[in-house]
Amino acid sequence: MAIGVFDSGVGGLSIHHALVNRLPQADFIYLADQANTPYGDKTGEQIVELTRQGCETLFDAGASLVVLACNTASAVALRRLQSTWLAQFRKTYGRPVNVLGIIVPTIEAATGLPWEHEAERRGPKIEKLDVIGIFATRATANSRVYEIEIDKRRQDLAVFTEPCPGLADMIEQGAGQEALKAKIEAHVQALRLRIGRFPDRAILGCTHYELVAELFRAALPEGTPIIHQPPSVAKALGDYVTRHPDYDIGNSGRRAFFTTGAPKSQSTLIEAFWGAPLTFEAVSTAPRSLTA
Ligand code: DGL
Repeated sequence: MAIGVFDSGVGGLSIHHALVNRLPQADFIYLADQANTPYGDKTGEQIVELTRQGCETLFDAGASLVVLACNTASAVALRRLQSTWLAQFRKTYGRPVNVLGIIVPTIEAATGLPWEHEAERRGPKIEKLDVIGIFATRATANSRVYEIEIDKRRQDLAVFTEPCPGLADMIEQGAGQEALKAKIEAHVQALRLRIGRFPDRAILGCTHYELVAELFRAALPEGTPIIHQPPSVAKALGDYVTRHPDYDIGNSGRRAFFTTGAPKSQSTLIEAFWGAPLTFEAVSTAPRSLTA
């Protein structure tokens, strides 16, 4: 059995890397839905259905836990899947399985509060002091998940999300540094104009953006703290598997990488992040035991 890691493409490798470091003995299966990337401009219904298919493929391949290493799937699909398909699926599947997202640990990192904490609403709102700027896909931005969940917990934080349509796809396709730099700078400036100043902190709310975190760092004023998702997600998963030993995550340190797209080598941008050539094997429909 294994931990499944799912993304529309290679962005989830930024999360996968941290998970593997945290749980080196566990077996991991990574699935990139490159036949359908990018998710950020798809409808909610499409994102829910593609995420469901990805989870089912990973369960059938031997995953007991699936981490949605994708903000778009976590923001748009996770709650829907948990309350509909997953609830039913778990009853009939024959072994314990679950799907976890990456929004909760990110909000905990941004607020410094456990997820269970919701601010008591007493009297008028406190004046907003600290501004968090979030860079995300259009679908994540439209879900307003970060604004809603942070506002429930910390009324002294103001959240502005900047949708960056096309950016995840540029990263996925291995666009050059100059083109990426220009696009990221334009989005940082667009957010600054909307807020009226630069944000005090930033969240890279799309796992693809983590692969070009240095370009965000350079476009933001020097020293702007960036909340990185991978360490927060890795800590949350480590705590989760300790609390839930009933999920079998394997213990032979096996790594498998699959794509619904063509099993080509990934771009130099991705390989530079990964530190080695990376070729995915092709998978189309839910096969039995990809790690066998
Ligand atoms: N990497 C994903 C995310 O975190 C999805 C990007 C996309 O497919 O648009 O949102």
